[in-house]
Amino acid sequence: MSDNDQTTNRSIEESRLIGGNSMNDDQQIELSLRPQYLREYIGQRKVKDNLNIFVKAAKARSESLDHVLLNGPPGLGKTTLAAIISREMGSKLKVTAGPVIEKAGDLAALLTNLEAGDVLFIDEIHRLHPAIEEILYPAMEDYELDLVIGQGPSARSVKLELPRFTLIGATTRPGLITAPLRGRFGINFHLDFYPVEDLQIIVERSATILGAQMEESGAKAIALRSRGTPRIANRLLRRVRDFAEVEFDGVITAAVATDALNRMEVDRFGLDEVDRKMLTTIIEKFGGGPVGVSTISASISEEKEAIEEIYEPYLIQIGFLNRTPRGRVVTAAAYHHLGFDLPNQAATRQNDLFQ
Ligand code: ADE
Repeated sequence: MSDNDQTTNRSIEESRLIGGNSMNDDQQIELSLRPQYLREYIGQRKVKDNLNIFVKAAKARSESLDHVLLNGPPGLGKTTLAAIISREMGSKLKVTAGPVIEKAGDLAALLTNLEAGDVLFIDEIHRLHPAIEEILYPAMEDYELDLVIGQGPSARSVKLELPRFTLIGATTRPGLITAPLRGRFGINFHLDFYPVEDLQIIVERSATILGAQMEESGAKAIALRSRGTPRIANRLLRRVRDFAEVEFDGVITAAVATDALNRMEVDRFGLDEVDRKMLTTIIEKFGGGPVGVSTISASISEEKEAIEEIYEPYLIQIGFLNRTPRGRVVTAAAYHHLGFDLPNQAATRQNDLFQ
């Protein structure tokens, strides 16, 4: 797996809606917006409350925290949460990703460099090579590293003792985590899309950090179109601020936010060009479905994985798309939103996406 592959979905996710802007500056700003401690983390109440207890209990016993599996769609704060956990535990964080670990030796090097209490974060853990994943089993369970040295008849295995560390695995595809790996995580959290009220608070917090002037209604307008995702909310906030500063008096009001979002073609449901292209293609070329995800991928020239991990989860969550055994099916709500008549009615279209 190449470096390119492993960054593909993250890059797609990060470049959505903001084509042409400097990624580095944006990424740095995004980092500055991330909450550092659990008390600053907004939303995901159940995860936060339980995590708070597990962290307190582990610290009181002077133990490392049990291994944590975080699953959920991209942009909801899995990496942020891993950083918060290590900070709350007062430990060091080492970050890597499944596809980056190409050889057994790569993982062995990471594990043997850990110190007691360290947190090892493996993003996209579902993309670990199976042979490498197996090395994790004894490492997680018994803090042992089983290494095979040499090849053929002279090969021998050695056992190395590892310090007690915490593995945090993150995945957008919990269904692809093998049972033996899943079973070795003592803590398993699912992150849900954020409700508008939580996103509004996140946007308000971010605007304060950025020093942007914003009315409450402006924050709500951004939150409403952020597809339940803080990373998107923060990105839209930065872009709306650009519009507010260049074309208005700098204050983000509801009218300014709505105008800016319309001009970026982010519609009332937070759908962007790719979402609409996908739904429209299924409607126009495949009679609304069912149609397989590989066929959709070929038709709209988007990676199958990106469709499954990035675009589809939100469309399913808002009831615009159904996953059936025979393929994806567009719902009546999506027909309505996109201005299509339902099948077997005349296929006329009105354009009221941005009202
Ligand atoms: N920024 C991104 N996600 C956040 C969250 N859950 N709480 C506060 N700020 C955030």
